[in-house]
Amino acid sequence: MSEKTILRALKGERLPVPPVWMMRQAGRYLPEYRATRAQAGDFLSLCYNPDLAAEVTLQPIRRYGFDAAILFADILLLPQALGLDLWFVTGEGPRLSTVTTAAQVAALKPAAAIHDTLSPIYETVRILARELPRETTLIGFAGAPWTVATYMVAGRGTPDQAPAHAFMAQDRAAFAALIDLITQGTIDYLSAQIEAGAEVVKLFDSWAGSLKGRDFDDFALEPTRRIIAALKSRHPGIPVIAFPREAGPRYAGFARATGADCVALDNSVSADWAAAEVQKDGCVQGNLNPRLLVSGGDELVAETRRIVQAFSQGPHIFNLGHGITPEADPDNVTRMLEAIRG
Ligand code: CP3
Repeated sequence: MSEKTILRALKGERLPVPPVWMMRQAGRYLPEYRATRAQAGDFLSLCYNPDLAAEVTLQPIRRYGFDAAILFADILLLPQALGLDLWFVTGEGPRLSTVTTAAQVAALKPAAAIHDTLSPIYETVRILARELPRETTLIGFAGAPWTVATYMVAGRGTPDQAPAHAFMAQDRAAFAALIDLITQGTIDYLSAQIEAGAEVVKLFDSWAGSLKGRDFDDFALEPTRRIIAALKSRHPGIPVIAFPREAGPRYAGFARATGADCVALDNSVSADWAAAEVQKDGCVQGNLNPRLLVSGGDELVAETRRIVQAFSQGPHIFNLGHGITPEADPDNVTRMLEAIRG
């Protein structure tokens, strides 16, 4: 049995057909996902139910035969494990109790306490490691510290991350202490996922694009570098995908600066530019606009082929530039896969 395609691409191998998976591939666009979520009761109950979380992780693998499965969980479970309240408002998104002062940072639980809350997630990983087809790679994940901090400070998603920027401006040392705690928790969380059977881990820095200059270095690049160094020292050879979404020109050199094996590209980056400036350092992942899985048609096929072609001279994992949306047509995913695999 030859090595799994995703692991080969992550080692820098150029493959004739790129391996493929999709961010949010287990999600509301699939009727079988909606049925299992209803069975669980709500989104968080689904995340913390290992049998049902494993079931929704497997659904898109059965339907489409993706080359990777991503653990079903959420980046906001870590703040909950650090002591914040977390709930989801249907149709609106996540809500958390907030952390806006040095005293509130100091009152959070220590990183070592996270496993009390997160152990069901490790059980989901163990089930998946047993049940996935042998050719499918299992990806674990966490939020990158900056993105997780933006939700902890604001208590919700924000268009410009203004509350986190304000905390940073007002008390940079306290904000840095929050980033340090999340960094440590993330190392322990991802380590536990790897011990349970995750073969690759991915760091989602969805709001990296709002950090500029020194702030990008201190709060996007450096925590990512620390997490990757710690994981690779505990688990030699573990591949890491970094997703500094909307980093723009800062995508160039990101893999070298952080030690990431692969950089995931959002769809604001041109594939031709990234092939020249990012792929020269190793594997890239991306970057179809998820909107095209709603609209479909010839544009979907042409754009899928264009991305495959643009990255065909180096290691590439096909993916979207962001998560698939609930409005996407499941048949368009089939059309995308046909355009990739022929
Ligand atoms: O990719 C996957 O399918 C793996 C599981 C996964 C989820 N969220 C499941 C989910 C992953 C990797 C995430 C990451 C995540 N979560 C991010 C980073 C990536 C990104 O999207 O930018 C962020 C910022 C979150 C926080 C979060 N979770 C938000 C803002 C929301 C609400 C927005 C929305 O899409 O509804 C969630 C909910 C969420 N997480 C859903 C899923 C499948 C939808 C929940 C539902 O079923 O109602």
